[in-house]
Amino acid sequence: MIRSVIRGSGSALPRNAVSNAELAARVDTSDEWIVERTGIRQRYIAEPDETTSSLAIEASRKALDAAGIDASQIDLIVLATATPDNTFPATATKVQHALGCGGGIAFDVQAVCSGFLYALTTADSLLRTGSASRALVIGAETFSRILDWEDRTTCVLFGDGAGAVVLEASDGQADGPGVLASRLHADGAQHDLLYVDGGPSTTQTVGHLRMRGREVFRHAVVNLASVLNEVIEDAGISAEDIDWVVPHQANARILDATARKLGLPMEKVVVTVDQHANTSAASVPLAFDTAIRDGRIKQGDLVMFEAMGGGFTWGASLVRI
Ligand code: ACO
Repeated sequence: MIRSVIRGSGSALPRNAVSNAELAARVDTSDEWIVERTGIRQRYIAEPDETTSSLAIEASRKALDAAGIDASQIDLIVLATATPDNTFPATATKVQHALGCGGGIAFDVQAVCSGFLYALTTADSLLRTGSASRALVIGAETFSRILDWEDRTTCVLFGDGAGAVVLEASDGQADGPGVLASRLHADGAQHDLLYVDGGPSTTQTVGHLRMRGREVFRHAVVNLASVLNEVIEDAGISAEDIDWVVPHQANARILDATARKLGLPMEKVVVTVDQHANTSAASVPLAFDTAIRDGRIKQGDLVMFEAMGGGFTWGASLVRI
């Protein structure tokens, strides 16, 4: 049985951390409001020389180092982003060129905040069918570039960053490491609750993020609990078997509500939203890398990744590390 095994992870953040207090100096908001409603204390905002590809390249280099794998051995790059460097070509091809791993497969996937789950599941499928043998799966975003800085209901919630994992096809043991089960969903009927009001085919502008936060919140908790239960059932485990949940870091109250629905204690949930805010497709691999590097997640742990975002899209993936 071929399994896709995570060999290493890496992450990257822009140089510039912006606290809630600094934001409150230019937007009509307060540290107290942001912390109470979201749990966010700061976010990283890219300078003009920092791009989705530059963050993705840095995160990928660290993931390759951690895996002990040379860039020339990578034959698949799947990069999740809603904020590519350019409309085309795919940012994944820029990463491929910068790392020096040309010749293999490289493409972007667009599922907004669920992007990393879509990328991981796609890469896992390609590895298990033999189309590739070693993959870089990346989530990278510069959401600060599509925020309306006049809209205090959205601009305080997001940040920039990137995370990456090296995924390798390997002969799997039933109780060994690897991606064990994944589920993805989308519901285009919910477009108007979370979208960007621009694009090449409509306005010929990049546009700005628009969101009806309260309604997004309600859908997020229901959809996440449902997809988590599907993956738990597919894998034939119970919620108590999970060592760590690495959720999309949208806001602390969604994390709390989802954990409560599953009966999981918050001690098993990796939380980085206070430091990174919502980095869309980057948030899951950024949080995963943080918990690997600080020693919380260890080899042999059963880890659940989950995310929900614009579209709506949502998904979950259970991985033995
Ligand atoms: N600072 C101060 N006051 C604010 C701010 C701000 N940044 N933003 C809104 N307010 C005010 C509003 O104007 C409103 O004032 P009013 O009562 O005088 O009209 C009041 O605060 C309450 O506004 P609501 O929008 O009802 O606040 P709510 O409690 O719903 O919290 C929030 C807003 C944090 C966006 C919440 O709805 C939420 O977390 N939604 C989930 C959205 C999300 O995380 N999306 C991420 C992308 S999707 C995903 O990743 C799952």
